[in-house]
Amino acid sequence: MADPLYICKVIQSALIPVAGHGTRLLPATKSQPKEMLPVARKPIVQYVAEELVANGINQMLFITGRNKASIENHFDSDPELMRVLASTNKQELLDELKFEELQANFFYTRQRQQKGLGDAILCGESFAGELPFVVALGDSILGMNGESKAVSRLSQLFTEMRASCVIAVEEVAEEDVSHYGIIDPGEGEGDWVRVKNLVEKPNKNAAPSRWAISGRYAFSPLIFDMIRRVKPDKRGEIQLTNAMQLLCEEGKRVLALKLPKIDKRYDIGNFPSYFETFVEFALADPLYGADFRVALKKMLERK
Ligand code: G1P
Repeated sequence: MADPLYICKVIQSALIPVAGHGTRLLPATKSQPKEMLPVARKPIVQYVAEELVANGINQMLFITGRNKASIENHFDSDPELMRVLASTNKQELLDELKFEELQANFFYTRQRQQKGLGDAILCGESFAGELPFVVALGDSILGMNGESKAVSRLSQLFTEMRASCVIAVEEVAEEDVSHYGIIDPGEGEGDWVRVKNLVEKPNKNAAPSRWAISGRYAFSPLIFDMIRRVKPDKRGEIQLTNAMQLLCEEGKRVLALKLPKIDKRYDIGNFPSYFETFVEFALADPLYGADFRVALKKMLERK
């Protein structure tokens, strides 16, 4: 069933959940948010914010928790630091602070208890109001240097297809399906398919496909009612995937956008993929990449 409410041109607001403890990255995340860990020269969350702005998002609500204040500080301007750099003629360093002028408004709210991704999204209900919105997970970078345009495509599909929800998906290896929400794909056309059903972190024998939910979504505000209907799982968490499953059960139009290869998702939620991401981005760095490549080669050739 088409969602009749939303004939807006593009989605302009995003919820960015960043409340998780990041326990898989301890001790690095003991007192700092995982979203502030650097990948090459920038903290992860800066890639996410820049990606969203490049995709037409100009209102962002970060759903934070305890120990996340440095995210807010990062996007604030720091006149004193600027004065010091200007007075010592450090123009190239001043340029590194240009992101402070990102053309977006930043908002922050706290999820007071860790009750899952669905509950975190519910914290953004009054921010979203009656308009559709994007959800971008704060621990995932999309595309090299976060240069993906997938969010614009999500937004376009959402409007053209009058969907209730469009989810970015990426094909993962069979042994990895148990780490993700997995869709049961139906018919489709080009880069999208209909979603018949979804299941959160199935074991590989029960997975309906290898198409994994990949950290970017577009929703109509209908999702909030669905989240309220979801029962907590064994760990007491309200899963967003289960709310999307309810949308499917209600016969709402739920679509999946298959991410193109160029929009690889860099998941920073665990050390192996954090290490890989760091090295890949550092190698691609226009200033330091070439020397780093030489150093890395030497390192690898050493016994
Ligand atoms: C969350 C979602 C899951 C999705 C994943 C992507 O899981 O619940 O559906 O596939 O993000 O990273 P989490 O990684 O928070 O356990």
